[in-house]
Amino acid sequence: MSAKKMNYGQPSLQGTITVPGDKSVSHRSVMFGAIAEGKTTVEGFLLGEDCLSTIDCFRKLGVKIEVDGTNVKIESAGIDAWEEPKEVLYTGNSGTTTRIMLGILAGTKLHTVMTGDASIGKRPMRRVANPLRMMGAQIAGRENGQYTPLAIQGSTLQAIDYTMPVASAQVKSAILLAALRAEGTTIVRESSVSRDHTERMLRQFGATVDVEDGVISFAGGQKLTGTHVFVPGDISSAAFFLVAGAIAKNSRITMKNVGINPTRDGIVNVLAEMGAAMEIIVDDELAAEPTATITIETSDLRAMTIEGDLIPRLIDEIPVIALLATQATGTTIIKDAEELKVKETDRITAVVTELKKLGANIEATDDGMIITGPTALHGADLQTYGDHRIGMMGAVAALIADGEVTIDDAACIAVSYPIFFEHVESLIVK
Ligand code: S3P
Repeated sequence: MSAKKMNYGQPSLQGTITVPGDKSVSHRSVMFGAIAEGKTTVEGFLLGEDCLSTIDCFRKLGVKIEVDGTNVKIESAGIDAWEEPKEVLYTGNSGTTTRIMLGILAGTKLHTVMTGDASIGKRPMRRVANPLRMMGAQIAGRENGQYTPLAIQGSTLQAIDYTMPVASAQVKSAILLAALRAEGTTIVRESSVSRDHTERMLRQFGATVDVEDGVISFAGGQKLTGTHVFVPGDISSAAFFLVAGAIAKNSRITMKNVGINPTRDGIVNVLAEMGAAMEIIVDDELAAEPTATITIETSDLRAMTIEGDLIPRLIDEIPVIALLATQATGTTIIKDAEELKVKETDRITAVVTELKKLGANIEATDDGMIITGPTALHGADLQTYGDHRIGMMGAVAALIADGEVTIDDAACIAVSYPIFFEHVESLIVK
């Protein structure tokens, strides 16, 4: 752990940054490149620790992967050419790696064991193991497959018709990638649509997927062929600077290359409804994922209610949205977000505890939080709970706080945004 003391003196933030690659798309680019036959080239890959864990797992399966800056090359002869790993596949802090890999490994001919760090060891896996078992997967783990370490004996799979009990792109993606190896057509029904990067990438790699009114139909046995993947900037990383620009004084921040996939852009809706001064210029669509340049300025904000179908579109942004709400006039209610309890840490408890230390008027509820603003924030010693997004929420709070803010672990931010503090420093007007 590396503590970081921040005494920024309530600066203005001005300038332009290019947001690093999207974590979800980066993971999938390597997974798809490893499954596909042929060569896959990835541009704009996120060199965050989570995505490097995905690369490491596939190298242990014998897939050839070269990393050159943010360019990645993957060469594979397809799943049947993978080797049975002699070592445990270590997924670090990455829920996406652990859950989606489970679906991929279920339909191989290999025996594999997967484990991660202490946070992964507490995150629910039966939500993935259960539908995969319905397909015929053989998965063993603590508490009947609920927790890592997980042992997978690859087997023959059958298609299923599955109604998702929670909105989760990790669960959906695990099922779809298992379905690729299954006999028959798998149907996944979503009540609230979760991020659709997997569906887009299946098409990009040559497969056919039908999606209509939240029902995904996907025929097994399709072949994926290596291709070029352009990774958009991560809107979940941009979110920290969208909020910083809106709440720091005399600020104007431009972010280039921000992924604005409509299943991910809930933060843009929230900022617009709260009254933020923001300009979005959509790029000519280059690849499977749309991008934009977004400029945001210091804004007068008003409270709102965030609920329902909007929640999966901004689930990872809720810590920083809670911080945003401390600066909005009125009472912001965040509900239908119980999924926050099973993220890298319990993010309802973590956000409420840490923002209270800074002076925020915030209370936890069973499925979210209630925040009344605006409140001035002051210096405090904050905990990250090893959660990158709680760490970055604390650092953005430090930009507007009066006094020194300390976070106990700045290193955890490298999970998704290794150059976060470089971007903070580059924007501060000296
Ligand atoms: C992700 C899906 C979401 C999100 C996570 C990344 C993905 O998790 O919170 O950061 O890449 O599929 P859930 O599937 O648990 O909602």
